[in-house]
Amino acid sequence: MCGIVGIVGSPNAASILLEGLKRLEYRGYDSAGLAIMGPDGQYVVKEKGKIVNLEAALNWDELKGTCGIGHTRWATHGPPNQINAHPHVSGKVALVHNGIIENHAALKIQLTNKGHEFESQTDTEVLAHLIDDFYDGDLVKAVQLALAVVEGAFGIAVTHLDEPDLVIGARRGSPLVVGVGEGVNYLASDVAAMMGHTRQVIYLDDGEMVTLRPEGVQTTTIDNKKITKAIEEITWDLDQIQKGGYEHFMLKEIFEQPQTIRDSFRGRILPESGDVKLGGIELTDWELRNIRRIIILACGTSWHAGLVGEYLLEEYAHIPVEVEYASEFRYRSPIIEPGTLCLVISQSGETIDTLEAMREAKRKGAKVLGITNVVGSTIARESECGVFIHAGPEIGVASTKAFTSQVTILALMAILFGRRTHLSADRGTQMLKELVKLPDLVQKVLDQSDAIKKIAEVYAGHKNCLYLGRGVNFPIALEGALKLKEISYIHAEGYPAAEMKHGPIALIDPDMPVVVIATKDGSYDKIVGNVQEVRARDGKIISIVTEGDTEIAALSDHVITIPETMNFWTPLLSVIPLQLLAYHIAVIRGEDVDQPRNLAKAVTVE
Ligand code: G6P
Repeated sequence: MCGIVGIVGSPNAASILLEGLKRLEYRGYDSAGLAIMGPDGQYVVKEKGKIVNLEAALNWDELKGTCGIGHTRWATHGPPNQINAHPHVSGKVALVHNGIIENHAALKIQLTNKGHEFESQTDTEVLAHLIDDFYDGDLVKAVQLALAVVEGAFGIAVTHLDEPDLVIGARRGSPLVVGVGEGVNYLASDVAAMMGHTRQVIYLDDGEMVTLRPEGVQTTTIDNKKITKAIEEITWDLDQIQKGGYEHFMLKEIFEQPQTIRDSFRGRILPESGDVKLGGIELTDWELRNIRRIIILACGTSWHAGLVGEYLLEEYAHIPVEVEYASEFRYRSPIIEPGTLCLVISQSGETIDTLEAMREAKRKGAKVLGITNVVGSTIARESECGVFIHAGPEIGVASTKAFTSQVTILALMAILFGRRTHLSADRGTQMLKELVKLPDLVQKVLDQSDAIKKIAEVYAGHKNCLYLGRGVNFPIALEGALKLKEISYIHAEGYPAAEMKHGPIALIDPDMPVVVIATKDGSYDKIVGNVQEVRARDGKIISIVTEGDTEIAALSDHVITIPETMNFWTPLLSVIPLQLLAYHIAVIRGEDVDQPRNLAKAVTVE
């Protein structure tokens, strides 16, 4: 989604801004721009499309200033074109904005009556004019007055030509992080933008603002109360956000999974006692034993991880679990009883629906535990306790390694909660033994990438695809279908295999490939029946089976095998071929795998 960068104090301000914008490309965007406070005036360039278009439009001779702001826009109000791209300018004010100004229409009328003229269809331009309208020589004051009257969500960066050594940032509902350097300070919506320049960061909270000058940064609330914020250190490296020889980030991240799964459980398992230690869960054994119900809140791929978690937690911890779309949960009247634990799952930790659902759950008295990847993200900071999945930065818009790490953490939680009640030490030990083997087994599935590519070649031209799974692999059918839709734009649906008879079977014909996850478990015989039903209607079958399976293999057009493991750990293996299948199909179709159209990495607007 939209990205913000800002810098003050560097003679290379423009090139650092451009580099920062490139680092934010992964979030998804449709236009970009920057503004530099130059000695001869304000230099503003905006272009539709990719950053390369912006780069091509820059006249480096004019980009002399040491202070500026930049933006990647993901259109909400007004189509993606050059005029609607940010920065928006009013007089000497330049502004970039993430979020939505809800009362922009009323404000626009008031400002128009005062003589302001508008060029774009954006809500952001209204805010630029509002700040300009309040300006009487003090940008800090003008921003504070303007933000006092706007309704809605924002993360902003603002400059004024008369104060060419100042960038102001402020947030309400949209993330902003300050990078503290020596003589140069940075502002961004995502730490990735400032990697390579500083590791010292300050995360702003809602209702806070910051002034950046070359000599230092100062934080206040938007209503001008001084606050002291802690400076934190970024722990990851630049090479983690580079492709490292892979053609796409998504492929790199798929192949990182043996390592990222290992990183998720590393230091957290106690094999001797069949137990688990998750330091961030600040619940006593007594509290863990008294969890009566778990509500999982998430969106997208994280929601699918939550569904796998439902199977694991009910099986091993014997706690009733509901998995809710965060967007639905927050707009109804959820019943939170004593003993309710909310698990809030979000890779980015910034998805607005998940964040707001978490706030609603807290308000209603639930204990809230965040499962996030991004340290310093809003969900990580606002949840009462939590667990980091340690998957490292995920750049590809379609989530892969974060999913398997989320499932790994949920598996650990199932053991942790189970060991406080029903689960024996022997069983716990056995489960952990199987869990630590998974990274090597994942590698065995990854080794089949070329064979999966061959299957992809057969189906890349199809228009529809059905994914079937049962039990703990039903959510994997949903996730496989989501991966294909997201990056190849082929219509795909995931279904519990037995539900096929209640509708989707009507669609089956030779043009409908059906991907079936048919690993050896209690419902294996039933799934054989489902495969036969597809075959009888000439559907094409791609099956994911356990090594050594011959029965389903004989009924299938294509077979991908996964090594044997405990039934409840199979999702961590069965999802891998589906990620690879989607990836190869999208590449064959020539799609932009890492930045699929219309999608954003973190959805920070409702
Ligand atoms: C977006 C992304 C998905 C992601 C979902 C939830 O739609 O494109 O890949 O699964 O948001 O994101 P989160 O960061 O909360 O896990």
